Amino acid sequence: MGVKLTYIGHSCFMFEGSKKIIIDPFISGNPDAKIKPDEIDCDYILVTHGHADHLGDALYLSKNCKATIVAPYELAIYSQMQGAENVHPMHIGGAFNFDENLRVKLTIAHHGSAVVGESITYTGNPAGMLIQLDGKTIYHAGDTGLFSDMKLIGQLDNIDLALLPIGGNFTMGPKDAAEAVKLLGCKEVIPMHYHAFDVIRQDPEQFKKYVGDASRVTILSPGQSKTV
Ligand code: NI
Ligand code: MN
Repeated sequence: MGVKLTYIGHSCFMFEGSKKIIIDPFISGNPDAKIKPDEIDCDYILVTHGHADHLGDALYLSKNCKATIVAPYELAIYSQMQGAENVHPMHIGGAFNFDENLRVKLTIAHHGSAVVGESITYTGNPAGMLIQLDGKTIYHAGDTGLFSDMKLIGQLDNIDLALLPIGGNFTMGPKDAAEAVKLLGCKEVIPMHYHAFDVIRQDPEQFKKYVGDASRVTILSPGQSKTV
C-alpha cells in the first residue's frame, strides 16, 4: 500500500498511511504553500524546533484537528502552555511507538530552537525525526548542519527516504547535503528548505548533480505527492 507523501513546501510534508502525520507545518505565511491550514486533517503534528518556519500552524492544527503535537520536550511544553491540549514530549535519542504502525525517534540536529516574538523564548534543542510508518522509514533532518553521526543513523535503520535541507545560510547547502546522503545511505532523498526565502534559494538540480549515483533524488514542487 505504501505511504502517500505530499510536499506542502519549505520543510513541511504530509504523510498519509494508517495515520495522518504532518511535520513542520509552516503553512500560513509560507509563500510556497498551496493549501490553507483549515484544509489539513491530521492525527499527529511533528515539530523539529521552535523557529516560526517550522512551528508554523502547529497550535492551530492541534486544536482544529484534535491532533497531538510531538516535539522535543521544551517545545512540547511551550506548545501546551500556549493552549495545545495534546502534546507528546520526547527528546534526542528517544523513540516511542505511538501504535504498532508508527514509531518516532528524535535525532540530533545542529541548529537553534527558539520562538522569536517581542522577546526570545528558547525551546531547548532542535531535533531531526526518524519516522517509521507502515513499514517505511523516513528521516526528516529538521534544520541542521552536516554531522558525521548521520552515518550511525543510517546504520541503525535502513532509510527509505531522507528529507534534507539544502538551502545553506541556516542549514546544510547542496554540497554538504550531498555528503549527508552518502553518510545516511538512504535509498531516496527529497531536498527541502531551499526556496521560501531569498537567502536560502538554491538550485535543487545542483544538489542532484552532487549526489550523483549515491541515491535517487526526487525533486518535488509544493503540492506534489508521491508514494513511498
Ligand atoms: Ni530553524
Ligand atoms: Mn528553518
